[in-house]
Amino acid sequence: MSSSSTPTPTPSLTPTLTPSLTPLACGAELRKACDAARRRGERVGFVPTMGALHAGHLALVREAKTRGSFVVVSIFVNPTQFGPNEDLTLYPRDLASDLARLEPLGVSAVFAPQPAEIYEAGEDTRVHVGRVAEPLCGSIRRGHFDGVATVVAKLFNLVGPSVAVFGQKDYQQLLVIRRMARDLFAPIEIVGLPTVREPDGLAMSSRNAFLSPDERSRALAVARGLSRAAVAFASGERRARVLEATAREPIERVASSIDYADVRDADTLAAIEDLTGPRALLAVACRIGATRLIDNVVLGVDAPPLAALAG
Ligand code: PAF
Repeated sequence: MSSSSTPTPTPSLTPTLTPSLTPLACGAELRKACDAARRRGERVGFVPTMGALHAGHLALVREAKTRGSFVVVSIFVNPTQFGPNEDLTLYPRDLASDLARLEPLGVSAVFAPQPAEIYEAGEDTRVHVGRVAEPLCGSIRRGHFDGVATVVAKLFNLVGPSVAVFGQKDYQQLLVIRRMARDLFAPIEIVGLPTVREPDGLAMSSRNAFLSPDERSRALAVARGLSRAAVAFASGERRARVLEATAREPIERVASSIDYADVRDADTLAAIEDLTGPRALLAVACRIGATRLIDNVVLGVDAPPLAALAG
């Protein structure tokens, strides 16, 4: 067709004709698509998610797109990382709206399997990561990181990515996956991205959808506590106990419970009393109403989550 005979529409009037994303549900089909992409010379990037996608997930996808030409997103609420009394059945699920969010980003494939596809009858293997999975959420959500490491290993084996992108809001999860990838010689670059926050500082999380308006405003205490501790660190405070107490104080006023507000070595998650290095993790897990929220800052690296305290 001669291009001269075709009127060129102005960009503002051009509809975005992205073909509808049809999620794959079959692992073998996913593997075939990724193998074909690699044969074409494409670099495969991967973003594993549990769906209920928000701007934080979309930032992971955009990052993956800068690092790979064939980007796969998985959407799978993984049953093995939920304990018996946790929110597996309540966990928000909305595949149609997830696909609508992914479509403009130019994702190459979405994998949305049923549980039986990932955990077929008779499967009997779990991936257990050691020390870095033990403290913090590992000590409270027993078996959680075995479930995470297992599903991520299975997904890595189906996708075969060169690069996989995770959020630092789940800081311990990121360290667990890095450890697993390294220990199992997985030839995958594991990239961590800073936490994406709402304009008022609340860390984005699929579980924020459970918060009532009152709980939503109380949840800001988490960002407030982390911010105050980050400011104290920037002013020279190096006693872990003081930094932890500083973070706890506003959270205690509004939370139904606090699982931890701990300063830890940012690489090993070992407990520390006096911070001697340039950076350390301050991680919080608490319940606001019935909703469990986690958040963290890397002291010495991250700006305080509350802009007003960023100084
Ligand atoms: O972070 C999550 O959403 C999940 O833990 C993950 C990595 C997709 C594994 O189920």
